[in-house]
Amino acid sequence: METSRPPAPDPRAFPRDDRRIYDFYVAGRQSAALAVGVRLGLFDALAPGPRVAAELSASLDLRPRPFRSLVIALRAMRVLESDDGGETLRLAPDAAEYLVRGRPGWLGGLVDLEIEHFLSPQALLDALRKDDSSVYGDTDPWDAHEADPEQARRFTAAMHSVSERPAAGLAEAIDFSGVRSVLDVGGGSGALSIAIARAWPDTTCTVYDLPVVCPLAEEYARSAGLSDRVSTVAGDMFADAWPSGHDAILLSQILHDWPLDLGVDLLRKACAALAPGGLLLVHEKLVDDDGRGPLANALVNLDMLVWTRGQQYSEAELRRSIRTSGFAESSIRRVPTAGYWSAVLARKAS
Ligand SMILES: C[S@@+](CC[C@H](N)C(=O)[O-])C[C@H]1O[C@@H](n2cnc3c(N)ncnc32)[C@H](O)[C@@H]1O
Repeated sequence: METSRPPAPDPRAFPRDDRRIYDFYVAGRQSAALAVGVRLGLFDALAPGPRVAAELSASLDLRPRPFRSLVIALRAMRVLESDDGGETLRLAPDAAEYLVRGRPGWLGGLVDLEIEHFLSPQALLDALRKDDSSVYGDTDPWDAHEADPEQARRFTAAMHSVSERPAAGLAEAIDFSGVRSVLDVGGGSGALSIAIARAWPDTTCTVYDLPVVCPLAEEYARSAGLSDRVSTVAGDMFADAWPSGHDAILLSQILHDWPLDLGVDLLRKACAALAPGGLLLVHEKLVDDDGRGPLANALVNLDMLVWTRGQQYSEAELRRSIRTSGFAESSIRRVPTAGYWSAVLARKAS
């Protein structure tokens, strides 16, 4: 007996190429795989050269199945490479540059923070509903650091790791000749100060940060061999008067921690504390004025929801705030520093 076949479905009736949306869904696993690789020391272990996968997994105390899963993910991400189907592994060139502890470009300090502070959907949902920093529950993050020096150390190490490359870019892109002294407000580890002092031998920098952070900055300056030109002053940048008379004042990743009206308070203090003709530098990962990207800066903005009371601002927003704080519009300009980073510069009238 002949059976009638159902009509072939119209392929357009049931969309099947979900890859663009599926890729978003799965993207967070990349952060997880990267962070685990850093925490396990996988990239450090491959730094001297290629290794046999089986030996490497044994040396990291991992069984073959989980190690294979991690390696397949990292190879697909082009972080690890292999010419023999995964028997022997090596670092991709940018992994060798940015994921090996102790190398100048090391970004692992930032990536490693993902283990304790991964931006989970639940954390994001909570932050969206709370509209306030939620990373340490109801405790203000800076109070949490003051109360727990170990948290401060971990956070400052992550900041150092994210800031080192744009700091080098800033020191190269901006002319600091004639700038004898820089006040690095909320300077954290002093990554920016260290880069400026390293590149400009006539410039001294002062990291102005909370009391718990200053000894950390001093440690970083000491290990960079720059203690003579990178020093610290402890203070509260909102409550206290700033050290005055500096030729330049730098606010790197500071405005993005607070609502813009508080940012304007800081910019006004900067204008008052600068020497006549002094240079203001605001260093941030800006989002485009039309809000369409760059994707990385738009995404890190979600971290700002969880960590802070601020957001990643656009150049237009910063220009407006700088203008209302006493700097002339004609003195404001944007300079790309490195990667996703820019500095917005302005000059105090002479
Ligand atoms: C996002 S980090 C930026 C660190 C550094 N400028 C950089 O770009 O790597 C913010 C810094 O602001 C500091 N900070 C927060 N509240 C402060 C306050 N009231 N007074 C001074 N510093 C403060 C923090 O301790 C932290 O080091």
